[in-house]
Amino acid sequence: MMSSDQIPAENETRPTIYLKDYQPPAFRIERVDLDFDLQEEGTRVTCRMVLQKLAADQDDLVLDGDAGLKLLSITLDGQPVAADRLHRQDETLRIKAVPDHFTLETVVEIEPQKNDRLEGLYRSGGQFCTQCEAEGFRNITFFLDRPDVMSIYHVRITADKALYPVLLSNGNLVETGDLANGRHFALWHDPFQKPSYLFALVAGDLDCLKDHFTTRSGRDVSLNIYARAHDLPKCRHAMESLKRAMRWDEEVYGLEYDLSIFNIVAVSDFNMGAMENKSLNIFNTKYVLADPEISTDDDFDHVEGVIAHEYFHNWTGNRITCRDWFQLSLKEGLTVFRDQEYSSDQGSRAIKRIQDVRILRAHQFAEDDGPMAHPVRPESYMEINNFYTVTVYNKGAELIRMMHRILGADGFHRGMDIYVQRHDGQAVTCDDFVAAMEDANGADLSHFALWYSQAGTPHLDVREDWDDKTKIYSLYFKQYINPTPGQSTKAALHIPILMGLIGPNGGEMAARLIEGDADQTEKGWLLHVKEAEAVYRFTDLAAKPVPSLLRQFSAPVQLSSPVDDGQKHFLVRHDQDEFSRWEACQDLMIDAILKGVSAISLQKPMPDVSELIESCAALLKDADRDPAFTAEILTMPSEAYIGQKMTPVAVDAIHEAHQYLKKALADGLASQWRDLYARLANKGPYELTAEHKARRALRSVALLYLCFGGDSDPALKHYQTADNMTDRLAALRILSHSDDDDLRERIFADFYNRLAHEPLAIDKWFAMQALSLRPDCLDRVKSLLRHDAFSLRNPNRLRALVGSFAAGNQLRFHDISGEGYRFLGKIVGEVDRFNPQTAARLILPLSTHKRFDPERSAMMTSVLRGLAANKDLSRDVYEILTKSIS
Ligand code: ARG
Ligand code: ZN
Repeated sequence: MMSSDQIPAENETRPTIYLKDYQPPAFRIERVDLDFDLQEEGTRVTCRMVLQKLAADQDDLVLDGDAGLKLLSITLDGQPVAADRLHRQDETLRIKAVPDHFTLETVVEIEPQKNDRLEGLYRSGGQFCTQCEAEGFRNITFFLDRPDVMSIYHVRITADKALYPVLLSNGNLVETGDLANGRHFALWHDPFQKPSYLFALVAGDLDCLKDHFTTRSGRDVSLNIYARAHDLPKCRHAMESLKRAMRWDEEVYGLEYDLSIFNIVAVSDFNMGAMENKSLNIFNTKYVLADPEISTDDDFDHVEGVIAHEYFHNWTGNRITCRDWFQLSLKEGLTVFRDQEYSSDQGSRAIKRIQDVRILRAHQFAEDDGPMAHPVRPESYMEINNFYTVTVYNKGAELIRMMHRILGADGFHRGMDIYVQRHDGQAVTCDDFVAAMEDANGADLSHFALWYSQAGTPHLDVREDWDDKTKIYSLYFKQYINPTPGQSTKAALHIPILMGLIGPNGGEMAARLIEGDADQTEKGWLLHVKEAEAVYRFTDLAAKPVPSLLRQFSAPVQLSSPVDDGQKHFLVRHDQDEFSRWEACQDLMIDAILKGVSAISLQKPMPDVSELIESCAALLKDADRDPAFTAEILTMPSEAYIGQKMTPVAVDAIHEAHQYLKKALADGLASQWRDLYARLANKGPYELTAEHKARRALRSVALLYLCFGGDSDPALKHYQTADNMTDRLAALRILSHSDDDDLRERIFADFYNRLAHEPLAIDKWFAMQALSLRPDCLDRVKSLLRHDAFSLRNPNRLRALVGSFAAGNQLRFHDISGEGYRFLGKIVGEVDRFNPQTAARLILPLSTHKRFDPERSAMMTSVLRGLAANKDLSRDVYEILTKSIS
C-alpha cells in the first residue's frame, strides 16, 4: 500500500532513523544515582548505574552521550576502564566486553552556562533548569537515552546556598544539609520508574506559591509553583487550574495523583510550551503566569489548558510511556484530547471545538499538504524534535476523539481502564492503545487504525439526490487522499460522519435509513464511511431535507458538500449543532472572499454580499443569547486560511478581497456595530467570569468592524479606558494597522512604557508590530531587531517578532520583493548556530513554496538553497531543508 518514492537525502552524520529498525534495549538500568556539582564555570555530573544485560549476544555496552560531554573518569565495578576498551564516536560511547551485571560510574563535565540550545541542563534568568525530552539527557551524561529504558533515580544536587537556595528534582525530598564554603545539598528520590526524558533538575533563587490538594483516597499533596518573586501573584490562576485538573481526572478517568508533592517551575527561556517531568513540571512562563494586566482572556484559557495537559501526562505519558519516539502520539494525541475535553467541561464545548478546529485546519491541514507531511505515527525521522508537530499532537487527538465517538463515552472509558491496568509501568505503542480499546469493547479497529500510518488529509466529496416520487433522499460519499512524501497510494479510511437532516421549519427530521452503515445517536446519525465510495438512503421524509454534515467536525477531513448558498444561510439560522452553524457561516465568508479574488483577477465587479450581511444582521439581533458564540461566528477566516483554498496563493488579491468583505460587513451593519459596542460597555471593573469574557470577546469584534472604515477614535478610546490586557490588546491590534504615524507611535510608546517590566506583555508589543498590515512592516521588524529589549536567544521574543511576521503575516511576509524571505533566511542561519530546535520551526513558512506562484516560489527556494549550502547546519534545519527542496 505504501511505497518509498521520496526518500530524503541523508549522509553519515545525519542518518535517517526508521521505525522498522526498532530493537529492544540490550541492557536494563536497575538504578541510577546522579550527583550534580553545580558551579558557575562548569558542572560536574557523576552518574552511577547498575546495569543488567538483556541480550546475551551483546558484548558491548553502547551509551548515548553528546560530543560536548567531557569525560573525566569511568569505572566498572570500581575499576578504571582501560582506554582501549572505550570507543567514542558521534553521539555514543562504546564500552567493550562488559559483564552481565555490573556497576558503571562516569564523571563528566558540562557547561550549562554556555548552553543556548536549551536542551539538557542550561541556565535561564540566573537559575539552572533542564529540558530532556526528547533526547536532551545525553547532553547531561552518558546514558541509555531512550524511552523504553526506565529506572529508579536518586539525585544529589550541590550548589551555592545564597545563589541557589532552591534545589529541586523528581520525586520526594529525602535529605538536605549545609556544606563548607557556603554550599548546600539536597537529595531527591523518585520511587517511580521513569525514562531519562522525564528527568528534571532546577536550582535557583525562586519564590514559591503553596497550596495543597487532597486526592479522593485521602492523600494530601503539597502543590508548589516556583517563580520569580515579582511573578508570584500571577501564579494563582495556574494553581486553581491545577486543582481543577486534578479533580477532573479523578472524576472523569478515575486517575489519582500518586505522590505527596507536585512542583511546577516557571522559566523564561524555553523552546516549547511546557514539560511533564515526573512531579517537577517545567513551564515556559507564557503558560503559567496569568494576570489581567498582562494576559488576555485567551491567555488565561491557554494557561489552564497547558497546566491540565502537563498534569494529565502523569498517567498518559509518565506511568505509561512510549516505547520509542515514533509512538509520540501515544502520549501526546491522547493527552491533547484529554486537555481539550477538560477545557470543554470548564467553559463552552462548542466554542472550544471551534477554536480547536481552527488550529487544526490552519496548521495541521497545511502540514499534511506540504513537504513535511507525515503520519500520526511517523515511519522515519532525522531529528525527532522536528516531529513534535500539529500532526502528532492535534491530528493525534482527533484520532482519539474519533475512537471516543465510534465506541461511545462508556466504551472509550472501558478501554482506558484496560489500557491503564495492562500497561502501568510500561513503555508501549499506539497499537497497544488501540488493542485495549478493541478488547474492552469486543470491537475490531483494524481498519480504523490506518489513520495512524497514513499521512494526508482525506477529501470527502458528497453529492445528494432527492426523489420526489418515492421520497427517498440519497447521499453519495467519495473519499480520496492526495499522495504525501513516501506514500504515493492511499487506502480508504474509516471516517465517522455525524449528521442530521433538517426540515423546512428548521427542525430535525425523523427518517428511516434504508441503505448504508450508520448508528442513530442523540446528536444525529453517525455514518461509518469505510470505502472509497459509500451510499446512504433515507426514507419516511415528507419533504427534501437540508443535510447538516460533519457535525462537531466528527472527522479531520476536507468536506465538499452539496449544500448551496441558500441552504447555508438556512443552516446558519437553524442547525441545532453550533459547530455546524459556525461552519456554514465560515463557508459563506470563504466563498465570498474567493469570488472576490476571482473578480479581481478577471477585472469584474466584486460579488454581491448582501445576503451574507443579512444573515449576520440576524445573528447580531440574537447576539445576547450567546455573545461568545456570536463573536466566533462573526469573526472572518484569516487570509492564510483563504490561501489554503487556492493554488497558487493569490497573496495580494486575497488581501484585497478580504478587506472588501470586512468593509462590506463594517458598512452594511454600521449602526448595529455601534449599538452593540455601546450596549456591551464595561459595567464595573474587570472580572474573569464566563459572562465578562463573552462580553469582551463580542465587544472586541464590534470594535474591529466599527473602526474598519478608518475611524480610529473608538479604538483609541478603547485603549485608553482599558483596565485589562484583553481590551488593551484588541485596540492595539487595530491601531497597529493605522496609517496615522503619530497615533501609532504614541500608542506603542505608551504600551511599552506601561509594561516594560513585563516580558510577556512586551512579547505582545513585538508581535503586534510584526503583524501590522502596513507596507513598512518589514522595515519596522528589522529595526526592532536592534531594540534593547530584543534578543535572538530568548525563544518567546524571537517567535513574537520573527515568528509572527513569517507565520502570521501572509501579506507582508510574501511581499513580491522577496525581502521577507531573505530576512527570514538570514535570521534562521544565525539562530541555527546556537538553537537548532527553534531555528527549524522558524524556517517552516518557507517550506510551503510549492503553493505559491513561480516568482515567489523561486525566491523561497533560493533562500532555502542558500541556507543548505552551509556545511555546519544542524540536523534539525538540515532535515527541513532537504525535505522542502527535494
Ligand atoms: N512533552 C511536552 C508536552 O507536553 C513537550 C516537550 C517537547 N520538547 C521538545 N524538545 N521537543 O507536550
Ligand atoms: Zn504533551
